[in-house]
Amino acid sequence: VTVNDYGSSIFGRLQSLFKKAIEDAFPGLDVPLLLAETPNPQFGDYQCNSAMPIAAILKATGINKKPGDVGKEIHAKLPENIDFVEKIAVMPAGFINVFLNADYLRKQISSLALNGISLPKVAKKRVLVDFSSPNIAKEMHVGHLRSTIIGDSICRLFEAVGYDVLRVNHIGDWGTQFGMLIAHLYDRFPDFLKKLPDISDLQAFYKESKKRFDEDEQFKKRAYECVVKLQSRDGEIVQAWNTICDVSKKYNQIVYDHLDIKIKDVGESFYQDKMVELVKWIKENKPDMLRKEEGRQIMFPTGCDVPLTVVKSDGGFTYDTSDLAALKYRMLEEKCDWNIYVVDAGQNLHLETVYAAGRDFGWYDENTQRVEHVGFGLVLGDDKKKFKTRSGETVRLLDLLSEGVKRATEKLKEKGRDAVMTEEELAAARDAVAFGCVKYADLSHTRTQDYIFSFDRMLDDRGNTAVYLLYAYARIRSIVRTSGVTDSQLADYLAKTPILPLNHPAELKLAKQLLKLSDCVLLVLDSLMLHQMCDYVYNLATLFHDFYNECYVIERKEGEPVVVHFHRLALCEVTANVISTCFKILGIREVPKM
Ligand code: ARG
Repeated sequence: VTVNDYGSSIFGRLQSLFKKAIEDAFPGLDVPLLLAETPNPQFGDYQCNSAMPIAAILKATGINKKPGDVGKEIHAKLPENIDFVEKIAVMPAGFINVFLNADYLRKQISSLALNGISLPKVAKKRVLVDFSSPNIAKEMHVGHLRSTIIGDSICRLFEAVGYDVLRVNHIGDWGTQFGMLIAHLYDRFPDFLKKLPDISDLQAFYKESKKRFDEDEQFKKRAYECVVKLQSRDGEIVQAWNTICDVSKKYNQIVYDHLDIKIKDVGESFYQDKMVELVKWIKENKPDMLRKEEGRQIMFPTGCDVPLTVVKSDGGFTYDTSDLAALKYRMLEEKCDWNIYVVDAGQNLHLETVYAAGRDFGWYDENTQRVEHVGFGLVLGDDKKKFKTRSGETVRLLDLLSEGVKRATEKLKEKGRDAVMTEEELAAARDAVAFGCVKYADLSHTRTQDYIFSFDRMLDDRGNTAVYLLYAYARIRSIVRTSGVTDSQLADYLAKTPILPLNHPAELKLAKQLLKLSDCVLLVLDSLMLHQMCDYVYNLATLFHDFYNECYVIERKEGEPVVVHFHRLALCEVTANVISTCFKILGIREVPKM
Protein backbone atom coordinates (compact mmCIF):
# COMPACT_ATOMS: atom_id res chain seq x y z
CA VAL A 1 0.00 0.00 0.00
CA THR A 2 1.73 3.14 -1.06
CA VAL A 3 0.40 6.55 -0.34
CA ASN A 4 -0.35 7.89 -3.79
CA ASP A 5 -3.24 10.25 -3.59
CA TYR A 6 -1.48 13.57 -3.87
CA GLY A 7 -4.38 15.99 -3.79
CA SER A 8 -3.15 19.54 -3.82
CA SER A 9 0.53 18.75 -3.46
CA ILE A 10 2.60 20.41 -6.18
CA PHE A 11 5.28 17.77 -6.28
CA GLY A 12 2.71 14.99 -6.23
CA ARG A 13 0.79 16.50 -9.12
CA LEU A 14 3.99 16.98 -11.09
CA GLN A 15 4.86 13.35 -10.48
CA SER A 16 1.56 12.14 -11.90
CA LEU A 17 1.84 14.49 -14.88
CA PHE A 18 5.36 13.37 -15.72
CA LYS A 19 4.53 9.70 -15.23
CA LYS A 20 1.67 10.01 -17.66
CA ALA A 21 3.71 12.02 -20.19
CA ILE A 22 6.51 9.44 -20.16
CA GLU A 23 4.00 6.62 -20.52
CA ASP A 24 2.36 8.45 -23.45
CA ALA A 25 5.65 9.28 -25.16
CA PHE A 26 7.27 5.89 -24.60
CA PRO A 27 4.54 3.35 -23.97
CA GLY A 28 5.47 0.21 -22.11
CA LEU A 29 8.89 1.41 -21.05
CA ASP A 30 9.63 0.31 -17.52
CA VAL A 31 11.59 3.24 -16.17
CA PRO A 32 11.47 4.89 -12.77
CA LEU A 33 10.56 8.57 -12.76
CA LEU A 34 13.40 10.84 -11.74
CA LEU A 35 11.94 14.08 -10.49
CA ALA A 36 13.48 16.30 -7.86
CA GLU A 37 13.66 19.79 -6.51
CA THR A 38 16.29 21.84 -8.29
CA PRO A 39 19.10 23.04 -6.06
CA ASN A 40 19.89 25.99 -8.35
CA PRO A 41 16.96 28.37 -9.02
CA GLN A 42 18.50 29.19 -12.42
CA PHE A 43 17.17 25.79 -13.50
CA GLY A 44 13.71 26.33 -12.13
CA ASP A 45 12.04 24.72 -9.15
CA TYR A 46 11.84 21.07 -10.18
CA GLN A 47 13.79 19.01 -12.63
CA CYS A 48 12.94 15.76 -14.41
CA ASN A 49 16.04 13.69 -15.15
CA SER A 50 14.40 10.71 -16.80
CA ALA A 51 15.50 11.46 -20.38
CA MET A 52 19.01 10.05 -20.02
CA PRO A 53 18.06 6.65 -18.62
CA ILE A 54 15.26 6.42 -21.19
CA ALA A 55 17.72 7.17 -24.03
CA ALA A 56 20.00 4.46 -22.62
CA ILE A 57 17.18 1.90 -22.54
CA LEU A 58 16.16 2.81 -26.09
CA LYS A 59 19.74 2.47 -27.26
CA ALA A 60 19.93 -1.04 -25.80
CA THR A 61 16.94 -1.96 -27.97
CA GLY A 62 18.61 -0.49 -31.07
CA ILE A 63 16.87 2.89 -31.14
CA ASN A 64 19.24 5.84 -31.18
CA LYS A 65 17.76 8.96 -29.68
CA LYS A 66 19.57 11.87 -28.07
CA PRO A 67 18.52 12.55 -24.46
CA GLY A 68 17.65 16.08 -25.56
CA ASP A 69 15.12 14.71 -28.04
CA VAL A 70 13.73 12.29 -25.48
CA GLY A 71 13.26 15.29 -23.18
CA LYS A 72 11.42 17.18 -25.91
CA GLU A 73 9.13 14.24 -26.59
CA ILE A 74 8.21 13.97 -22.92
CA HIS A 75 7.63 17.72 -22.78
CA ALA A 76 5.33 17.51 -25.82
CA LYS A 77 3.09 15.07 -23.95
CA LEU A 78 2.67 17.30 -20.89
CA PRO A 79 -0.54 19.37 -20.80
CA GLU A 80 -0.22 22.87 -22.28
CA ASN A 81 -1.48 24.79 -19.32
CA ILE A 82 -0.73 23.61 -15.83
CA ASP A 83 -2.08 26.10 -13.31
CA PHE A 84 1.00 26.11 -11.10
CA VAL A 85 3.60 26.09 -13.89
CA GLU A 86 5.12 29.26 -15.38
CA LYS A 87 7.29 27.57 -17.99
CA ILE A 88 8.99 24.31 -18.82
CA ALA A 89 12.41 24.29 -20.46
CA VAL A 90 14.18 21.29 -21.94
CA MET A 91 17.98 21.43 -21.69
CA PRO A 92 20.19 20.03 -24.48
CA ALA A 93 21.21 17.16 -22.18
CA GLY A 94 17.54 16.25 -21.75
CA PHE A 95 16.87 17.70 -18.31
CA ILE A 96 13.37 19.12 -18.12
CA ASN A 97 13.18 22.17 -15.88
CA VAL A 98 9.92 23.29 -14.36
CA PHE A 99 9.43 26.86 -13.17
CA LEU A 100 6.57 27.57 -10.79
CA ASN A 101 4.11 30.32 -11.55
CA ALA A 102 4.39 33.17 -9.06
CA ASP A 103 0.73 34.16 -9.30
CA TYR A 104 -0.22 30.63 -8.36
CA LEU A 105 1.92 30.94 -5.23
CA ARG A 106 0.42 34.36 -4.45
CA LYS A 107 -3.10 32.97 -4.74
CA GLN A 108 -2.40 29.89 -2.67
CA ILE A 109 -0.86 31.87 0.18
CA SER A 110 -3.81 34.24 0.21
CA SER A 111 -6.19 31.33 0.38
CA LEU A 112 -4.19 29.58 3.13
CA ALA A 113 -4.19 32.78 5.16
CA LEU A 114 -7.93 33.13 4.71
CA ASN A 115 -9.05 29.52 5.04
CA GLY A 116 -6.35 27.93 7.19
CA ILE A 117 -3.98 25.08 6.47
CA SER A 118 -5.40 22.01 4.82
CA LEU A 119 -3.50 18.75 4.67
CA PRO A 120 -3.66 16.50 1.62
CA LYS A 121 -6.67 14.26 1.30
CA VAL A 122 -5.70 10.62 1.32
CA ALA A 123 -7.79 7.46 1.19
CA LYS A 124 -8.74 6.56 4.75
CA LYS A 125 -6.86 3.60 6.19
CA ARG A 126 -7.02 1.63 9.38
CA VAL A 127 -3.60 1.56 10.91
CA LEU A 128 -2.31 0.00 14.07
CA VAL A 129 0.83 1.39 15.67
CA ASP A 130 2.53 -0.83 18.25
CA PHE A 131 4.79 1.51 20.19
CA SER A 132 6.35 2.23 23.58
CA SER A 133 5.64 -1.35 24.74
CA PRO A 134 7.79 -1.51 27.90
CA ASN A 135 8.05 -4.57 30.10
CA ILE A 136 6.33 -4.72 33.45
CA ALA A 137 8.65 -4.58 36.43
CA LYS A 138 11.61 -3.69 34.31
CA GLU A 139 11.69 0.02 34.07
CA MET A 140 11.06 1.77 30.77
CA HIS A 141 14.44 2.71 29.39
CA VAL A 142 15.65 5.14 26.74
CA GLY A 143 14.96 2.57 24.01
CA HIS A 144 11.31 2.61 25.03
CA LEU A 145 11.51 6.39 25.13
CA ARG A 146 12.54 6.41 21.47
CA SER A 147 9.73 4.03 20.58
CA THR A 148 7.28 6.19 22.53
CA ILE A 149 8.32 9.43 20.86
CA ILE A 150 8.55 8.06 17.32
CA GLY A 151 5.41 5.96 17.61
CA ASP A 152 3.36 8.83 19.00
CA SER A 153 4.50 11.14 16.23
CA ILE A 154 3.61 8.56 13.56
CA CYS A 155 0.15 8.27 15.11
CA ARG A 156 -0.21 12.06 15.11
CA LEU A 157 0.71 12.19 11.45
CA PHE A 158 -1.85 9.52 10.57
CA GLU A 159 -4.50 11.22 12.66
CA ALA A 160 -3.77 14.53 10.95
CA VAL A 161 -4.67 13.08 7.55
CA GLY A 162 -7.77 11.36 8.90
CA TYR A 163 -6.66 7.74 9.27
CA ASP A 164 -8.32 5.46 11.75
CA VAL A 165 -5.47 4.93 14.22
CA LEU A 166 -5.10 2.25 16.89
CA ARG A 167 -2.43 3.25 19.39
CA VAL A 168 -1.31 0.02 20.96
CA ASN A 169 0.95 -0.59 23.95
CA HIS A 170 2.16 -4.16 23.56
CA ILE A 171 3.50 -4.28 27.13
CA GLY A 172 5.41 -7.31 28.33
CA ASP A 173 3.00 -8.18 31.11
CA TRP A 174 3.07 -11.97 30.92
CA GLY A 175 5.57 -14.74 31.35
CA THR A 176 7.29 -16.96 33.88
CA GLN A 177 9.15 -14.06 35.50
CA PHE A 178 5.87 -13.16 37.21
CA GLY A 179 6.18 -16.23 39.42
CA MET A 180 9.18 -14.85 41.27
CA LEU A 181 7.75 -11.34 41.37
CA ILE A 182 4.53 -12.56 42.91
CA ALA A 183 6.30 -14.78 45.46
CA HIS A 184 8.50 -11.82 46.40
CA LEU A 185 5.48 -9.54 46.67
CA TYR A 186 3.90 -11.86 49.24
CA ASP A 187 7.04 -11.66 51.38
CA ARG A 188 7.80 -7.97 51.07
CA PHE A 189 4.26 -6.52 51.00
CA PRO A 190 1.96 -9.01 52.73
CA ASP A 191 -0.74 -6.30 52.79
CA PHE A 192 -0.78 -5.82 49.04
CA LEU A 193 -4.43 -6.92 48.79
CA LYS A 194 -5.48 -4.06 51.05
CA LYS A 195 -3.46 -1.25 49.59
CA LEU A 196 -1.26 -0.67 46.55
CA PRO A 197 2.29 -1.21 47.80
CA ASP A 198 4.65 1.71 47.56
CA ILE A 199 7.37 0.17 45.43
CA SER A 200 9.27 3.24 44.42
CA ASP A 201 12.01 1.32 42.71
CA LEU A 202 10.51 -1.52 40.76
CA GLN A 203 13.84 -2.19 39.12
CA ALA A 204 15.36 -3.01 42.51
CA PHE A 205 12.33 -5.10 43.41
CA TYR A 206 12.88 -7.10 40.23
CA LYS A 207 16.57 -7.57 40.99
CA GLU A 208 15.85 -8.69 44.58
CA SER A 209 13.39 -11.31 43.46
CA LYS A 210 15.72 -12.49 40.70
CA LYS A 211 18.52 -12.89 43.21
CA ARG A 212 16.33 -14.96 45.52
CA PHE A 213 15.12 -17.00 42.57
CA ASP A 214 18.69 -17.83 41.57
CA GLU A 215 19.97 -18.56 45.08
CA ASP A 216 17.08 -19.96 47.07
CA GLU A 217 15.68 -23.35 45.99
CA GLN A 218 12.68 -23.02 48.29
CA PHE A 219 11.81 -19.64 46.80
CA LYS A 220 12.26 -20.95 43.30
CA LYS A 221 9.76 -23.71 43.99
CA ARG A 222 7.23 -21.21 45.30
CA ALA A 223 7.79 -19.02 42.23
CA TYR A 224 6.97 -21.95 39.96
CA GLU A 225 3.83 -22.67 41.94
CA CYS A 226 2.79 -19.06 41.47
CA VAL A 227 3.22 -19.35 37.69
CA VAL A 228 1.03 -22.44 37.59
CA LYS A 229 -1.61 -20.74 39.73
CA LEU A 230 -1.46 -17.60 37.58
CA GLN A 231 -1.99 -19.67 34.46
CA SER A 232 -4.98 -21.38 36.01
CA ARG A 233 -6.38 -17.96 36.99
CA ASP A 234 -6.23 -18.40 40.74
CA GLY A 235 -8.08 -15.34 42.06
CA GLU A 236 -5.57 -14.08 44.61
CA ILE A 237 -2.56 -14.75 42.43
CA VAL A 238 -4.20 -12.87 39.58
CA GLN A 239 -4.69 -10.00 42.01
CA ALA A 240 -1.01 -10.12 42.91
CA TRP A 241 -0.13 -10.05 39.23
CA ASN A 242 -2.47 -7.11 38.73
CA THR A 243 -0.85 -5.29 41.63
CA ILE A 244 2.60 -5.58 40.09
CA CYS A 245 1.25 -4.42 36.73
CA ASP A 246 -0.52 -1.47 38.34
CA VAL A 247 2.58 -0.29 40.18
CA SER A 248 4.57 -0.45 36.99
CA LYS A 249 1.93 1.24 34.86
CA LYS A 250 1.49 4.03 37.39
CA TYR A 251 5.11 4.95 36.88
CA ASN A 252 4.89 4.72 33.11
CA GLN A 253 1.80 6.88 33.11
CA ILE A 254 3.74 9.78 34.63
CA VAL A 255 6.14 9.61 31.70
CA TYR A 256 3.24 9.48 29.25
CA ASP A 257 1.52 12.44 30.90
CA HIS A 258 4.64 14.57 30.66
CA LEU A 259 4.99 13.74 26.99
CA ASP A 260 1.28 14.04 26.07
CA ILE A 261 1.12 10.40 25.00
CA LYS A 262 -2.18 8.61 24.53
CA ILE A 263 -1.93 4.84 24.21
CA LYS A 264 -4.04 1.80 24.96
CA ASP A 265 -2.77 -1.32 26.74
CA VAL A 266 -3.11 -4.44 24.66
CA GLY A 267 -0.19 -6.30 26.20
CA GLU A 268 1.07 -9.85 25.96
CA SER A 269 -1.41 -11.02 28.61
CA PHE A 270 -4.24 -10.09 26.25
CA TYR A 271 -3.14 -13.00 24.05
CA GLN A 272 -3.20 -15.76 26.71
CA ASP A 273 -6.22 -17.57 25.26
CA LYS A 274 -5.38 -16.51 21.77
CA MET A 275 -2.04 -18.31 21.97
CA VAL A 276 -3.82 -21.53 22.87
CA GLU A 277 -6.20 -21.03 19.94
CA LEU A 278 -3.28 -20.17 17.69
CA VAL A 279 -1.51 -23.47 18.32
CA LYS A 280 -4.76 -25.31 17.70
CA TRP A 281 -5.29 -23.32 14.50
CA ILE A 282 -1.82 -24.14 13.19
CA LYS A 283 -2.27 -27.82 13.97
CA GLU A 284 -5.57 -27.88 12.13
CA ASN A 285 -4.69 -25.68 9.18
CA LYS A 286 -0.94 -25.84 8.63
CA PRO A 287 0.28 -28.91 10.51
CA ASP A 288 3.26 -29.29 8.18
CA MET A 289 4.68 -25.97 9.32
CA LEU A 290 5.36 -27.21 12.86
CA ARG A 291 8.26 -29.44 13.65
CA LYS A 292 9.39 -31.01 16.90
CA GLU A 293 12.87 -30.44 18.17
CA GLU A 294 14.05 -31.47 21.64
CA GLY A 295 10.50 -31.32 22.93
CA ARG A 296 9.88 -27.84 21.52
CA GLN A 297 7.54 -27.10 18.67
CA ILE A 298 9.22 -24.79 16.25
CA MET A 299 8.68 -23.48 12.75
CA PHE A 300 10.88 -22.13 9.98
CA PRO A 301 8.81 -19.65 7.95
CA THR A 302 9.64 -19.43 4.25
CA GLY A 303 13.01 -17.83 3.67
CA CYS A 304 13.98 -17.75 7.36
CA ASP A 305 17.09 -19.32 8.88
CA VAL A 306 16.13 -18.83 12.50
CA PRO A 307 13.07 -20.69 13.75
CA LEU A 308 10.21 -19.39 15.87
CA THR A 309 9.54 -21.31 19.06
CA VAL A 310 5.79 -21.74 19.17
CA VAL A 311 5.58 -24.06 22.19
CA LYS A 312 8.35 -24.62 24.72
CA SER A 313 9.23 -28.10 25.94
CA ASP A 314 7.35 -27.45 29.20
CA GLY A 315 4.25 -26.56 27.17
CA GLY A 316 4.61 -22.81 27.79
CA PHE A 317 4.58 -20.07 25.20
CA THR A 318 7.24 -17.54 24.18
CA TYR A 319 7.66 -13.99 22.89
CA ASP A 320 7.39 -15.57 19.42
CA THR A 321 4.03 -17.14 20.24
CA SER A 322 2.57 -13.90 21.56
CA ASP A 323 3.73 -11.99 18.51
CA LEU A 324 2.23 -14.60 16.20
CA ALA A 325 -1.07 -14.40 18.07
CA ALA A 326 -0.91 -10.60 17.98
CA LEU A 327 -0.26 -10.52 14.24
CA LYS A 328 -3.15 -12.87 13.55
CA TYR A 329 -5.45 -10.82 15.74
CA ARG A 330 -4.43 -7.52 14.21
CA MET A 331 -4.85 -8.66 10.64
CA LEU A 332 -7.90 -10.90 10.92
CA GLU A 333 -9.88 -9.40 13.82
CA GLU A 334 -8.84 -5.76 13.84
CA LYS A 335 -8.68 -5.84 10.02
CA CYS A 336 -5.80 -3.40 9.76
CA ASP A 337 -4.64 -2.09 6.41
CA TRP A 338 -1.35 -1.18 7.94
CA ASN A 339 0.33 -2.73 10.97
CA ILE A 340 3.38 -0.91 12.29
CA TYR A 341 5.86 -2.02 14.96
CA VAL A 342 7.98 0.77 16.39
CA VAL A 343 10.67 -1.34 18.01
CA ASP A 344 14.45 -1.06 18.29
CA ALA A 345 16.43 -2.27 15.29
CA GLY A 346 17.82 -5.17 17.33
CA GLN A 347 14.48 -6.97 17.10
CA ASN A 348 14.34 -6.86 13.31
CA LEU A 349 15.11 -10.53 12.79
CA HIS A 350 12.46 -11.60 15.29
CA LEU A 351 9.82 -9.38 13.71
CA GLU A 352 10.66 -10.24 10.10
CA THR A 353 10.42 -13.93 10.99
CA VAL A 354 7.02 -13.39 12.56
CA TYR A 355 5.84 -11.46 9.45
CA ALA A 356 7.10 -14.27 7.20
CA ALA A 357 5.06 -16.76 9.24
CA GLY A 358 2.01 -14.50 8.86
CA ARG A 359 2.46 -14.55 5.09
CA ASP A 360 2.87 -18.34 5.09
CA PHE A 361 -0.34 -18.61 7.07
CA GLY A 362 -2.14 -16.31 4.65
CA TRP A 363 -3.11 -13.80 7.30
CA TYR A 364 -2.45 -10.84 5.09
CA ASP A 365 -1.93 -9.87 1.50
CA GLU A 366 1.20 -7.91 0.77
CA ASN A 367 -0.43 -6.23 -2.21
CA THR A 368 -3.15 -4.56 -0.24
CA GLN A 369 -1.85 -4.57 3.32
CA ARG A 370 1.36 -3.37 4.85
CA VAL A 371 3.03 -4.96 7.87
CA GLU A 372 6.29 -3.38 8.83
CA HIS A 373 8.97 -2.90 11.40
CA VAL A 374 9.78 0.75 11.96
CA GLY A 375 13.16 0.27 13.58
CA PHE A 376 15.42 2.76 15.27
CA GLY A 377 19.00 3.00 16.48
CA LEU A 378 20.43 3.27 19.98
CA VAL A 379 20.60 6.27 22.27
CA LEU A 380 24.24 6.96 23.05
CA GLY A 381 25.94 9.06 25.73
CA ASP A 382 28.52 11.78 25.07
CA ASP A 383 31.15 9.04 25.06
CA LYS A 384 29.38 7.39 22.11
CA LYS A 385 28.69 4.36 24.28
CA LYS A 386 25.28 3.12 25.36
CA PHE A 387 23.52 5.84 27.35
CA LYS A 388 24.10 5.27 31.08
CA THR A 389 24.27 7.27 34.30
CA ARG A 390 27.71 8.22 35.55
CA SER A 391 27.74 5.23 37.86
CA GLY A 392 26.90 2.96 34.95
CA GLU A 393 23.23 2.37 35.77
CA THR A 394 20.42 2.59 33.23
CA VAL A 395 18.94 6.07 33.24
CA ARG A 396 15.48 6.37 34.79
CA LEU A 397 13.20 8.17 32.39
CA LEU A 398 11.62 10.31 35.08
CA ASP A 399 15.05 11.46 36.24
CA LEU A 400 15.91 12.28 32.68
CA LEU A 401 12.77 14.35 32.18
CA SER A 402 13.26 16.18 35.50
CA GLU A 403 16.76 17.03 34.42
CA GLY A 404 15.26 18.43 31.21
CA VAL A 405 12.86 20.61 33.21
CA LYS A 406 15.72 21.88 35.38
CA ARG A 407 17.87 22.70 32.39
CA ALA A 408 14.99 24.37 30.56
CA THR A 409 14.35 26.57 33.59
CA GLU A 410 18.00 27.63 33.65
CA LYS A 411 17.92 28.30 29.94
CA LEU A 412 14.90 30.60 30.18
CA LYS A 413 16.44 32.43 33.16
CA GLU A 414 19.71 32.88 31.33
CA LYS A 415 17.75 34.61 28.56
CA GLY A 416 16.01 36.85 31.08
CA ARG A 417 12.60 35.45 30.21
CA ASP A 418 11.58 35.15 33.86
CA ALA A 419 11.47 38.94 34.02
CA VAL A 420 9.01 39.43 31.18
CA MET A 421 6.65 36.49 31.55
CA THR A 422 3.97 35.59 34.06
CA GLU A 423 4.50 32.50 36.17
CA GLU A 424 2.05 30.46 34.09
CA GLU A 425 3.63 31.57 30.84
CA LEU A 426 7.02 30.67 32.18
CA ALA A 427 5.87 27.23 33.32
CA ALA A 428 4.29 26.55 29.93
CA ALA A 429 7.45 27.65 28.13
CA ARG A 430 9.63 25.58 30.46
CA ASP A 431 7.68 22.36 29.86
CA ALA A 432 7.44 22.99 26.13
CA VAL A 433 11.21 23.41 26.01
CA ALA A 434 12.02 20.50 28.32
CA PHE A 435 9.81 17.85 26.73
CA GLY A 436 9.92 19.36 23.26
CA CYS A 437 13.71 19.32 23.15
CA VAL A 438 13.90 15.65 24.11
CA LYS A 439 11.30 14.68 21.53
CA TYR A 440 12.72 16.83 18.78
CA ALA A 441 16.28 15.62 19.32
CA ASP A 442 15.02 12.10 18.81
CA LEU A 443 12.81 12.82 15.81
CA SER A 444 15.27 15.07 14.00
CA HIS A 445 17.90 12.34 13.78
CA THR A 446 17.61 9.76 11.04
CA ARG A 447 15.52 7.16 12.78
CA THR A 448 17.53 4.14 11.75
CA GLN A 449 20.78 5.53 13.14
CA ASP A 450 22.14 5.79 16.68
CA TYR A 451 22.12 9.27 18.17
CA ILE A 452 23.93 11.01 20.96
CA PHE A 453 21.77 12.26 23.79
CA SER A 454 23.03 15.66 24.90
CA PHE A 455 21.03 18.27 26.76
CA ASP A 456 23.61 20.93 25.85
CA ARG A 457 23.07 20.23 22.20
CA MET A 458 19.29 19.94 22.30
CA LEU A 459 18.87 23.12 24.36
CA ASP A 460 20.96 25.19 21.98
CA ASP A 461 18.84 28.00 20.57
CA ARG A 462 20.74 27.97 17.31
CA GLY A 463 20.56 25.15 14.83
CA ASN A 464 17.99 22.45 14.24
CA THR A 465 16.55 22.22 17.74
CA ALA A 466 13.13 22.52 19.35
CA VAL A 467 14.29 25.61 21.23
CA TYR A 468 15.18 27.42 18.02
CA LEU A 469 11.82 26.53 16.52
CA LEU A 470 9.83 27.42 19.63
CA TYR A 471 11.50 30.84 19.64
CA ALA A 472 10.87 31.32 15.93
CA TYR A 473 7.23 30.41 16.39
CA ALA A 474 6.72 32.73 19.37
CA ARG A 475 8.45 35.55 17.51
CA ILE A 476 6.16 35.22 14.50
CA ARG A 477 3.05 35.18 16.68
CA SER A 478 4.31 38.27 18.44
CA ILE A 479 4.76 40.12 15.14
CA VAL A 480 1.11 39.56 14.34
CA ARG A 481 0.10 40.45 17.91
CA THR A 482 2.04 43.71 18.02
CA SER A 483 0.85 44.79 14.56
CA GLY A 484 -2.47 45.62 16.16
CA VAL A 485 -4.27 44.23 13.10
CA THR A 486 -7.29 42.16 14.06
CA ASP A 487 -8.24 38.84 12.50
CA SER A 488 -11.24 40.37 10.80
CA GLN A 489 -9.19 43.25 9.37
CA LEU A 490 -6.78 40.75 7.89
CA ALA A 491 -9.66 38.63 6.58
CA ASP A 492 -11.20 41.67 4.89
CA TYR A 493 -7.90 42.47 3.24
CA LEU A 494 -7.44 38.88 2.05
CA ALA A 495 -10.96 38.70 0.67
CA LYS A 496 -10.16 41.76 -1.41
CA THR A 497 -6.67 40.53 -2.35
CA PRO A 498 -6.83 37.04 -3.82
CA ILE A 499 -3.41 37.62 -5.41
CA LEU A 500 -1.04 38.85 -2.73
CA PRO A 501 1.66 41.27 -3.96
CA LEU A 502 4.52 38.93 -3.06
CA ASN A 503 7.43 40.23 -5.15
CA HIS A 504 10.55 40.23 -3.04
CA PRO A 505 12.67 37.10 -3.67
CA ALA A 506 12.66 36.34 0.07
CA GLU A 507 8.85 36.46 0.09
CA LEU A 508 8.60 34.10 -2.85
CA LYS A 509 11.13 31.68 -1.40
CA LEU A 510 9.18 31.56 1.84
CA ALA A 511 5.90 31.13 -0.03
CA LYS A 512 7.28 28.14 -1.95
CA GLN A 513 8.47 26.47 1.21
CA LEU A 514 5.06 27.02 2.83
CA LEU A 515 3.34 25.29 -0.08
CA LYS A 516 5.61 22.28 0.30
CA LEU A 517 3.88 21.22 3.51
CA SER A 518 1.63 18.79 1.64
CA ASP A 519 4.60 17.28 -0.16
CA CYS A 520 6.37 16.85 3.13
CA VAL A 521 3.36 15.22 4.81
CA LEU A 522 2.95 12.78 1.92
CA LEU A 523 6.65 11.99 1.88
CA VAL A 524 6.73 11.20 5.59
CA LEU A 525 3.45 9.30 5.41
CA ASP A 526 5.20 6.87 3.13
CA SER A 527 8.74 6.85 4.55
CA LEU A 528 7.80 7.16 8.24
CA MET A 529 11.05 9.13 8.58
CA LEU A 530 10.12 12.02 10.81
CA HIS A 531 13.45 13.80 10.45
CA GLN A 532 12.18 14.78 7.00
CA MET A 533 9.48 16.82 8.66
CA CYS A 534 11.99 18.29 11.13
CA ASP A 535 14.18 19.32 8.20
CA TYR A 536 11.18 20.85 6.51
CA VAL A 537 10.10 22.94 9.48
CA TYR A 538 13.68 23.94 10.27
CA ASN A 539 14.17 25.16 6.68
CA LEU A 540 10.91 27.00 6.93
CA ALA A 541 12.02 28.78 10.09
CA THR A 542 15.33 29.83 8.52
CA LEU A 543 13.61 31.07 5.36
CA PHE A 544 11.27 33.05 7.57
CA HIS A 545 14.25 34.49 9.34
CA ASP A 546 15.76 35.59 6.00
CA PHE A 547 12.48 37.12 4.92
CA TYR A 548 12.09 38.96 8.21
CA ASN A 549 15.61 40.38 7.94
CA GLU A 550 15.04 41.63 4.44
CA CYS A 551 11.43 42.78 4.44
CA TYR A 552 9.57 45.05 6.82
CA VAL A 553 6.32 43.66 8.06
CA ILE A 554 5.66 46.70 10.24
CA GLU A 555 7.45 49.88 9.25
CA ARG A 556 8.06 52.52 11.86
CA LYS A 557 9.67 55.77 10.73
CA GLU A 558 10.32 58.84 12.88
CA GLY A 559 7.45 61.28 12.67
CA GLU A 560 5.45 59.15 10.25
CA PRO A 561 2.46 56.91 10.86
CA VAL A 562 3.20 53.20 11.28
CA VAL A 563 2.79 51.19 8.07
CA VAL A 564 1.66 47.57 8.28
CA HIS A 565 2.30 45.53 5.14
CA PHE A 566 -0.76 43.32 5.14
CA HIS A 567 0.48 40.83 2.58
CA ARG A 568 3.54 40.20 4.73
CA LEU A 569 1.38 39.86 7.78
CA ALA A 570 -0.50 37.18 5.86
CA LEU A 571 2.80 35.46 5.17
CA CYS A 572 3.62 35.56 8.91
CA GLU A 573 0.23 34.15 9.75
CA VAL A 574 0.55 31.25 7.30
CA THR A 575 4.10 30.54 8.48
CA ALA A 576 2.98 30.36 12.11
CA ASN A 577 0.10 28.09 11.17
CA VAL A 578 2.31 25.76 9.17
CA ILE A 579 4.82 25.56 12.02
CA SER A 580 1.96 24.89 14.41
CA THR A 581 0.71 22.07 12.14
CA CYS A 582 4.19 20.52 12.16
CA PHE A 583 4.44 20.92 15.94
CA LYS A 584 1.20 19.01 16.35
CA ILE A 585 2.54 16.15 14.29
CA LEU A 586 5.90 16.18 16.06
CA GLY A 587 4.18 16.37 19.43
CA ILE A 588 5.78 19.68 20.38
CA ARG A 589 3.68 21.98 22.55
CA GLU A 590 3.52 25.43 21.04
CA VAL A 591 3.72 28.45 23.30
CA PRO A 592 2.70 31.94 22.17
CA LYS A 593 5.38 33.50 24.35
CA MET A 594 8.96 32.42 24.95
N1 ARG B 1 8.29 -5.43 25.20
C1 ARG B 1 9.24 -5.49 24.15
C2 ARG B 1 10.58 -4.96 24.63
O1 ARG B 1 10.65 -4.20 25.57
C3 ARG B 1 8.83 -4.70 22.92
C4 ARG B 1 7.56 -5.18 22.27
C5 ARG B 1 7.43 -4.69 20.87
N2 ARG B 1 6.24 -5.12 20.21
C6 ARG B 1 6.04 -6.37 19.75
N3 ARG B 1 4.88 -6.64 19.20
N4 ARG B 1 6.97 -7.29 19.84
O2 ARG B 1 11.62 -5.29 24.06
